[in-house]
Amino acid sequence: MTITLEELVSLCKRRGIIFPSSEIYGGFAGFFDYGPVGVEIRKNLLDWWWDFFVRQRDDVLGLYPAIIMNPRVWIASGHVERFIDWIVECKNCHGLYRADELLEEKGIKITDYSPEALSKLIKEHNVRCPSCGGELSEPRKFNLMMETYIGPIKDETSIAYLRPETAQAMFVNFKLYVTYARNRLPFGIAAFGKVFRNEISPRGFIFRCREFEIAEIEYFIDPERANDCPYFHEVDKIIVKIWTKETQKKGEEPKEMSIGDAYNDGVFSNMWHAYWVGKSLEWFSQIGISLEHLRVREHLETELAHYALQTFDIEYYFPFMGWKEIEGIANRTDYDLKHHMKFSKEKLYVPLSGRKVIPHCIEPSWGVERTFFAVITEAYTKTSDGRVFLKLHPKLAPYIAGVYPLLSREPFITKAREVHKLLKKKFTCYLDVSGSIGRRYARADEIGVSFGITIDHQTLEDDTVTIRFRDTREQIRVKISDLVKTIEELIEKWE
Ligand code: GLY
Repeated sequence: MTITLEELVSLCKRRGIIFPSSEIYGGFAGFFDYGPVGVEIRKNLLDWWWDFFVRQRDDVLGLYPAIIMNPRVWIASGHVERFIDWIVECKNCHGLYRADELLEEKGIKITDYSPEALSKLIKEHNVRCPSCGGELSEPRKFNLMMETYIGPIKDETSIAYLRPETAQAMFVNFKLYVTYARNRLPFGIAAFGKVFRNEISPRGFIFRCREFEIAEIEYFIDPERANDCPYFHEVDKIIVKIWTKETQKKGEEPKEMSIGDAYNDGVFSNMWHAYWVGKSLEWFSQIGISLEHLRVREHLETELAHYALQTFDIEYYFPFMGWKEIEGIANRTDYDLKHHMKFSKEKLYVPLSGRKVIPHCIEPSWGVERTFFAVITEAYTKTSDGRVFLKLHPKLAPYIAGVYPLLSREPFITKAREVHKLLKKKFTCYLDVSGSIGRRYARADEIGVSFGITIDHQTLEDDTVTIRFRDTREQIRVKISDLVKTIEELIEKWE
């Protein structure tokens, strides 16, 4: 059954997944807090990302960078000048809006994101202020970076920025990482952490926040070997809907094709770019997001970030708000390294057989909240009899097991404590003794607990317990002495 945004938002708050920040003061738009269940899922998601993209590879190195960097970084990177949205102001009530969002909300298709084109569309379709109906101004630039002051004096000289991306730390530390990677190419740097963007209109629950987490890889390649990716066979057969900028401009639908065919048709800027789109799809599929619900959309020229030659968004189909970006994969070329060389005077290249190579950079960049949102949307399952469960992979589930005494009294409780103590050494698990067993199962299902372990009358006789499966509600009976091994096998075999 189709899920509504209201149902999901309500579940997230009720069951401690994620909810608006500072609610006793009326909240604060664009800021959210993760609750006890949400922190576990978020951590599992990031751990899986790190494992897949860093630990399971030998070409990507980790970095955990500072949020605030020398402000000159953001001048050199072009963000001070060009990290902007186009906003319009109501001439009557002075409300401010993002021009592209106002148009998209009215179902007006944008094929050119330049201020002139946005202005033309606003006039053609007579778009007015959504709040008072007033006339709108011409689009003007609005820089998204949040500012703070460092040190005791608050003036122009002490302004610093809260980072809007982690990427710059990977560029400014490049020289060190060339030595860590032992002067070879390709290699990547991976980082995740909080970033800040002063969004004009945060919206869509956790879709567009002002403070959010980003997970990024800057993957540096030799531009002379941009079409030489030894791992391409791992991803070339993946089939997905691809929407190139040409097909968008012609008003055509996305085409289903393999990453290999799309690369051969010249869709991607190079083979490494195609590979990182494919690798991202592979990970999304592993974490439980169906490829059917994903599509790859190329940015139009006027939509590209100032540093990008070509960008593909991986979009997820949210049943309640349509296709939305959850990851962007950009070809940033040598834009950033060259700018930092110019501003810092450092030599940012890799010495390779007598050549001084300034690498090009492919950047897969995930919105963690957006990925989290897609994961729980995909997992949310409502059966025709009204049962709700989160069909999460055990590697993402907030708890692998809930332990329940069938009756909330002795000797069931003591036995349940023993089983809980045994399991918690190995798995995330909790003990729930309150309410009927049916209510305890229902609560666990709603947050995606993988297995329910029940201590019943038979347990007291033969030291066996039941394992209940969240998705099917089937049960098997196992000896307590075999419980850890059985759960390990069930996780191992999970599909
Ligand atoms: N670093 C990618 C982005 O800022 O979206």
